[in-house]
Amino acid sequence: MGLFSSRSDPILKSSDTMGLFSSKKAPSGFSSSNTAEEVTRGIDATGLTAIITGASSGIGSETARILALRGVHVVVAVRDLSAGGAVKEAIKKENSNAKVDVMEINLSSMASVRKFASEFKSLNLPLNILINNAGVVTYFKLSQDNIEMMFATNHLGHFLLTNLLLETMKSTADQSNIEGRIINVSSNAHKYSYNEGILFDKISDESRLNIMWAYAQSKLANVLHANELARRLKEEGMLITSNSLTPGAVETNIFRDTILSGIASSLGKYFLKNVQQGASTTCYVALHPNVKGVNGEYFRNNNISESNSKAQDTELSKKLWDFSIKLCENNGNA
Ligand SMILES: NC(=O)c1ccc[n+]([C@@H]2O[C@H](COP(=O)([O-])OP(=O)(O)OC[C@H]3O[C@@H](n4cnc5c(N)ncnc54)[C@H](OP(=O)(O)O)[C@@H]3O)[C@@H](O)[C@H]2O)c1
Repeated sequence: MGLFSSRSDPILKSSDTMGLFSSKKAPSGFSSSNTAEEVTRGIDATGLTAIITGASSGIGSETARILALRGVHVVVAVRDLSAGGAVKEAIKKENSNAKVDVMEINLSSMASVRKFASEFKSLNLPLNILINNAGVVTYFKLSQDNIEMMFATNHLGHFLLTNLLLETMKSTADQSNIEGRIINVSSNAHKYSYNEGILFDKISDESRLNIMWAYAQSKLANVLHANELARRLKEEGMLITSNSLTPGAVETNIFRDTILSGIASSLGKYFLKNVQQGASTTCYVALHPNVKGVNGEYFRNNNISESNSKAQDTELSKKLWDFSIKLCENNGNA
């Protein structure tokens, strides 16, 4: 199967009511039960370079494994270099030809994000795919920049990273004539944010923090960011797309800092996707030719799906963009 080759049939929207483990095939031909290996079978992505944040565990490490298996030069962007090294070792053990680099980034520190971007640029590598995957669920904490931790890590760090890498992605796309793809790993939880959507005036106010609403807020920000970026890329006529997705409910360590940790680890295997299934939508959006030219969409279970009305609110996405720029500027240059 040719990389990003075009297909004439339209990609229809999948039903959001498709059950967790439904094997019913939706428009893409894939469902919630397909693994990342299955949805990318036959794709040769040799020559592409991808950055995957939070690739030290869970969905991110499986995404790194599958992209490397398909020939992508993978940059595993992690805050714990030894965990990243272990992921690289495991990938190379399975596939000795895999091209994997490990680089340090702490998404909750703008200084660290800037350092990562500058180090990556100094390597003079192309950049075709950026997967903003890292995520955290935590009780109230402030980031190194004094911003509520989930908003800082899940949204703002990725917003800054994307802006800093955009020129590299643009020149890669221009020179190679291959579509660049930016992917924000959001969550179905984006539907359960605060009534206001984003608490612009009280983003780091502990008295307003409810762990699930604040996590949902950060995941709503992931969809709004992808949508606004998509609009801007289209306006500029860039050969780069920007989409968001939910991986579904996946058996990982995401709740490690919360009281849900025990429940998720003991009962998870009975009702959650495994990581091979959990990484499938990310890998599908990153590599599949069906997704060529698809921009500003929200994916679920390897198909285009519906985000909620707040996530589709263009005024809200513009407001979040300006707000995020200001927060980054207050900390240096965006
Ligand atoms: N699992 C689910 O059911 C589910 C559902 C919907 C959406 N998601 C989303 O899927 C994505 C991946 O999560 P997962 O389920 O695979 O959980 P995970 O196994 O806990 O992976 C999260 C990754 O993010 C990294 N990370 C956290 N804070 C970071 C920081 N400040 N800087 C750099 N990296 C950081 C973690 O690194 P460390 O190992 O160093 O902590 C880890 O590699 C997240 O965005 C999450 O919101 C997950």
